[in-house]
Amino acid sequence: MSGSEIQELDGSELGTKDYWDKSYDTEIKNYKSHGDVGEVWFDEDSQIRVINWMLKNDIAEESEFIDLGSGNGMMLVELYREGYKNLTGVDYSENAIELAKQIAADQDMEITYKVLDLLNTDEIAQKFGDKKFDIVHDKGTYDAISIHPENPAEMRQKYIQSLYNLTSDSGLLILTSCNWTESELCTSLTGKFELFKIIPTPSFKFGGSVGNVVTQIVFKKVAVNN
Ligand SMILES: C[S@@+](CC[C@H](N)C(=O)[O-])C[C@H]1O[C@@H](n2cnc3c(N)ncnc32)[C@H](O)[C@@H]1O
Repeated sequence: MSGSEIQELDGSELGTKDYWDKSYDTEIKNYKSHGDVGEVWFDEDSQIRVINWMLKNDIAEESEFIDLGSGNGMMLVELYREGYKNLTGVDYSENAIELAKQIAADQDMEITYKVLDLLNTDEIAQKFGDKKFDIVHDKGTYDAISIHPENPAEMRQKYIQSLYNLTSDSGLLILTSCNWTESELCTSLTGKFELFKIIPTPSFKFGGSVGNVVTQIVFKKVAVNN
C-alpha cells in the first residue's frame, strides 16, 4: 500500500487555524487570570513517555530539538527542566506562540518560539534557511493537519515534506498520534522516514481485538528523498 492509498479522515474544525486561534485566545485568558497553562494533548503521560525515551536513549542535551505545532509549549518546558537547552517551538497560531512565550518567560526559560505555518515551504525557508534539527517532535499536529477540511491528502503530503526538510540526515522524528495506527503512519511516511522504535503505550481490549489510544513512534530519516 502506498501513502496515496491511505483512507483519508473526515474534515473537522480542529483542522482549521481559526479553531486553534480561538482556543488559544481562551487559554491565554485562563493563564492570565488563574495561571492555568491549558491543554496538554493526549495527557501528560504521552509527554513523559517521549521524554523518558529520550533520556534512556542518551539523546544529547545539546541536540537541536524542534516541536512542531508546539501549542502552549509544555513539552519544551519539561525538556528544559531535564537539561535540554536547544529548544525551538513553532505554531501557526500567533495566540499559541504568545501563550508559550509567556509561560517560558514566567519560568525564566530560554526557549525559541516562532510563528510558522508548516504547510508553507517559503515561510519555513525564510525562518530557518538550511537549518536542520536532530530531533523533530510532533504530538497531535499531523493529526490536526490530517483533518484539514480541504484536501487533507495534499496537506498531509506537504506536511510530510516539511518534516523531511527540517530533519537532519541522522535525525529522528518522534510522532504521537491518536488518529493513525502504527502501520498507517509507517505507510504514509514511506520513502522519507523508516521505523526506528515504537514507544509502548497503554492498550485496551474490545470485542477480542487489542488497540492503543495513542501511537508513539520514533522514525529515522531515510538517506535519499524518493
Ligand atoms: C492537537 S494540538 C497539539 C498541541 C501540542 N503539540 C500538544 O501536544 O499539546 C495541534 C497543534 O498544531 C498546530 N497546527 C496545526 N496546523 C498547523 C500548521 N499548518 N502549522 C503550524 N502549526 C499547526 C495548532 O495550532 C495546535 O497548536
